[in-house]
Amino acid sequence: MTAFAVFASGYGSNLERFIEETRAPDERARLALVVSDRPECRAVALARQVVIPTFAFDPRAYPDKAAFECEILSELRAHDVQWIILAGYMRLVGSTLLDPFRYRILNVHPSLLPDFPGKDAIGQALRAGVSMTGVTVHYVDEGIDTGLAIAQTRIAIAPRDTLDTLAERIHAAEHRLCPAVALPLIRETEIT
Ligand code: GRF
Repeated sequence: MTAFAVFASGYGSNLERFIEETRAPDERARLALVVSDRPECRAVALARQVVIPTFAFDPRAYPDKAAFECEILSELRAHDVQWIILAGYMRLVGSTLLDPFRYRILNVHPSLLPDFPGKDAIGQALRAGVSMTGVTVHYVDEGIDTGLAIAQTRIAIAPRDTLDTLAERIHAAEHRLCPAVALPLIRETEIT
């Protein structure tokens, strides 16, 4: 069994999919920890509801990123976590976590990277007037959505699309793609 953590800052719909998809008693990927920089967010409430351990912290209580990432690292180690999935975690990951977890941190982003990195990727695509956007699952590095892409889903933008209609299709695609990419990688991990 390989343990993984989900990092989230908001609604937690991607987290919900990981909870659902790792429920089976013979599942080899175990969702061992949910980490959040927003203790009041729905993702944290969701994790607590299904009794998954959480580490929810207020970044303002720490002098810098290294300080809270040190605590996150201890929690990850205490729960034997091998993989991290960023699912709506709205912060850049620093070297305290990147160094020990290099090529074991994945992010899901709502655009066809390298197009439209950063915040409001769905709005950015709409405003740019492109006819195609999508979803990317990629490894995380120091940059903003710059790590190596593993898989993408393409989604056509219709002329009548609004932020809401497009976001609905993009989120549905994220919910399929992210567990489909991440869970086989997690399950196949040899623990040394
Ligand atoms: C998703 O669109 C994800 O791609 C982005 O943040 C959003 C998180 O949504 N990084 P949720 O919290 O999983 O519902």
